[in-house]
Parts: sequence; structure tokens; C-alpha cells
Amino acid sequence: MTTGDPDYRDSALEFPTDFVFGSATAAYQIEGAVAEDGRGPSIWDTFSHTPGAVLNGDTGDVADDHYHRLDADLDLMKELGLEAYRFSIAWPRIQPTGRGPANEAGLAFYDRLVDGLIARGIRPIATLYHWDLPQALEDAGGWTERSTAEAFADYARIMGERLGDRVEVWTTLNEPWCSAYLGYGVGIHAPGRTDDAAALAAVHHLNLAHGLALQALEEVVSNDPGFSITLNLHVPRPDGDTGAEAVRLIDGIANRVFLDPLLNGHYPADVLADTASVTDWSFVRDGDLEAISAVPITLLGVNYYSSSRVRLFDESDEVSEDREKALSGPSPWPGVGRQVEFLAEDGPLTEMGWNIDPSGLEDLLVGLHDEFPALPLMVTENGAAFADEVSDDGAVHDVDRTDFLRRHFTAAHRAMQRGADLRGYQVWSLLDNFEWSLGYSKRFGIVRVDYDTLERLPKDSARWYTELIRSRQLPD
Ligand code: NOJ
Repeated sequence: MTTGDPDYRDSALEFPTDFVFGSATAAYQIEGAVAEDGRGPSIWDTFSHTPGAVLNGDTGDVADDHYHRLDADLDLMKELGLEAYRFSIAWPRIQPTGRGPANEAGLAFYDRLVDGLIARGIRPIATLYHWDLPQALEDAGGWTERSTAEAFADYARIMGERLGDRVEVWTTLNEPWCSAYLGYGVGIHAPGRTDDAAALAAVHHLNLAHGLALQALEEVVSNDPGFSITLNLHVPRPDGDTGAEAVRLIDGIANRVFLDPLLNGHYPADVLADTASVTDWSFVRDGDLEAISAVPITLLGVNYYSSSRVRLFDESDEVSEDREKALSGPSPWPGVGRQVEFLAEDGPLTEMGWNIDPSGLEDLLVGLHDEFPALPLMVTENGAAFADEVSDDGAVHDVDRTDFLRRHFTAAHRAMQRGADLRGYQVWSLLDNFEWSLGYSKRFGIVRVDYDTLERLPKDSARWYTELIRSRQLPD
């Protein structure tokens, strides 16, 4: 369902010359080579090898084999005309147990990646944490412990010392919402825990990790890079009389619990109150909030895929199936999930079952601009999974994906017209890859990966994107 203009297919929109078009991936989703060159196990290795945790028993053991195909993949990026590449660094390649001296072979891989990008005129955007926590740190409590945040800062320093003359944008964390709530609350992501209080402790220690990491990076980098974090901010739309209250609850637990400490120096009072039955937040210590915002971000990364429609459950409706479900299982909304009903979305949906709502991206970017006018923004992920097929002519005519991208680029452009300081856009994803608990069943790539041969095949959407980058105008 959309509000506003449902079409979003404007033509002849032009993007500024300094707008950075790129594409994004993450280490565990593409690299493979999980036991090579000294890499230690991460929570995703453990989780994906746990029977029943990932669809079809898929793992990231081989993934896209990017680790062994780095040069060819770099050439592909160049061929597609990418101006930037957002990748993540696998912490367990750098510190196999999450602590201690750096593993030179791990550093050397990312050195080659960054040099290879620069040699091809592609700007490196590095994410330090895209969910692959060293297993040894999880064994010591993972993100429920502040020591993990401290260890993360040491790791950030190591990376800053090694790549801090070349990386253009550092992103500390990717979607801490997922790490905390899906990993520790609902248990559908690694490490697979189901404990609301642990999820909220994880929220805080992730926020703290971000702050401590930026302090470490700032001390060691030499090239004046951008400092950022990537959030998957939710766009809940109100439905009916109770919609506004449901929006407040979801916006608090999903968005403001990250944005406020980062940009306003405190946790939102309503979120502390809403979650009081789960935790007293005593894991927040004196000085933590100062540490979280000590080095301000210079760019906010926004991952956007879809919006939702919410209202409060009707207290009198005791037999509602949805409510039964929400009450019986763990929820990604500690303390508030049992009150909020997510309504079924109108189609068409993507293969993920997510609605297609470009106006959500426009609203999100404009809303962020209104609230934080001086904050530059970047779409660090946007894209869609569809059931691609290789046609008889050997090509993938992914018209749905191209249409999805066209409409979301239009939305981004409209947000810029309305004042949002949007600096760039990283399409998710460069390659089909390991879609976490859904394994290889969902394809997000603009480049197809044949999982038998590991061959890469640019889809029509990739060709369309190349033309957009070249002309800086949305192609017809
Ligand atoms: C966001 C995550 O950062 C990425 O890893 C994932 O593949 C996409 N969403 C699609 O679900």
C-alpha cells in the first residue's frame, strides 16, 4: 500500500554529478572461504550449521566464493560503471577470536580489495560490522556484554590503522535493529537467542560500540573520511484511531532508540517507559551516552525496503489469530510488540513478502532531513528479491527489479527536490547471495550467481543501472 503518489515513474530526472551511485554486499553473504587464511568462526557459521536454523540448511561456507574471485568481481564492478562499492569486513578474518593481534592474511585481503577498487576508480565504503560476530565473543555473552563494545573499538582501530588512508566512508554497524532484535529477541538470526531483555542490552551495547569505534577510528585515520552508521529505519503508517499510538511505539523501539542516543544524546523517555517491564536499562552507565555521540556521524546510512501499516490490537478481539501469534511467540519489538498489529499488505509484494512503497523512502528521507537538517544522508541499501529466471536467450529479464529500482530512485530524487541532502545510493545487492535465514532462496542481485558454477551474469537491471550511472538520468 502506498500513500502519496503510487506511480513514481517520473522520466528525465537528473542526478547531480557528485551523487555517488554504487552497490552493496556483506562479507558473510558473499565471501565463502570461511576456514581459510586464519579466519575464525563467527556466530553466522555456528547458526547456519545449526539444523533447522536456515532454510534448506544453506550456509555461507562457499557463498559466492568472492574471496577467491576478488579480481574478477572488481572487474565486474568496473564494467558496470559503479562509482562506489559498499562492502563489509569480516571481523573474524581480522581477529579470529574477536580479540588480540590482527591476522595479517585477513588484513591483506581487504587491502587488496580497497586497492583494487581505487585502481578502478571506485570509492570504498567499508562497513565494520555486518553481523558476523566472532563466535568467541558470543561465547562470552556477545552483544549483551559491554566488553563486546570495547572489543569492537579495538577492531575498529586495527582497521583504521590499516585502511585509514584510503577508505572514503566508514560505517560502524549495519542495521543494529537486526543484530539486537532478530539475533537476541526473536532468534531468527544468529546467535538465535530469544530473550527480550538481552535484546535491549544488545541495543545499548551496539550503540556504545558505534561510539567507541568512531573514537578509535578518528584517532588513527589520515584521509578525512565520512563517519556513519547504517540503520534500517522503519516506516510505520498509522491505521485507524489507534494508528498514531502504534506508530509511536514502533518508531520508538525501532528508530528513535538508535537515532536519539546518536544524534540527540539520550534514550527516548517513552521507550524507556514502554520497555520498563522488560528491563530497567541499568546496563547504561555514566558516560555511555557521551561516548555514543562523542564523534558525530557525518553521514547517516539508510537501508530501505518497505513500509508497514500498524494499529493497536483490539483488546476486545480475543480470538484474533494474529494476536494469538503475536502473543505466543517472541517479538522483534521488546515490550511493545504485544500491543501492535501489523496489517497485511496489499500486493504486489516482492519475493520477501514485503510491500513495494517508494513513497516510504521519500517520506523517510524528507523526515530525516526535517529533523536533522544538517545531516547528509546516503541510501546504503535498496533493492528487491524477485523470482528471476534465465530466459532462453540466456539473459535475466528482471523487469520487476528494474521497475522497483526506477521507482525508488524517483522517490530519492523527489526527496532531494524537497531538500534532503542525499549524497548517494548503494543498490542491494551487487550479487545474488546468502540471504541469512532464507539461505540462497531469495535473489537480490543485479548480477545473477549460478550456485552450481558460481558464474556471474549481469541481469537487465544491472544494464539499466549502468546506463543510469553513465547518463545520470533515469533511463526509460
Ligand atoms: C538488509 C541487510 O543489511 C542485508 O544483509 C540483507 O541481505 C538485505 N537487508 C535484504 O534482506
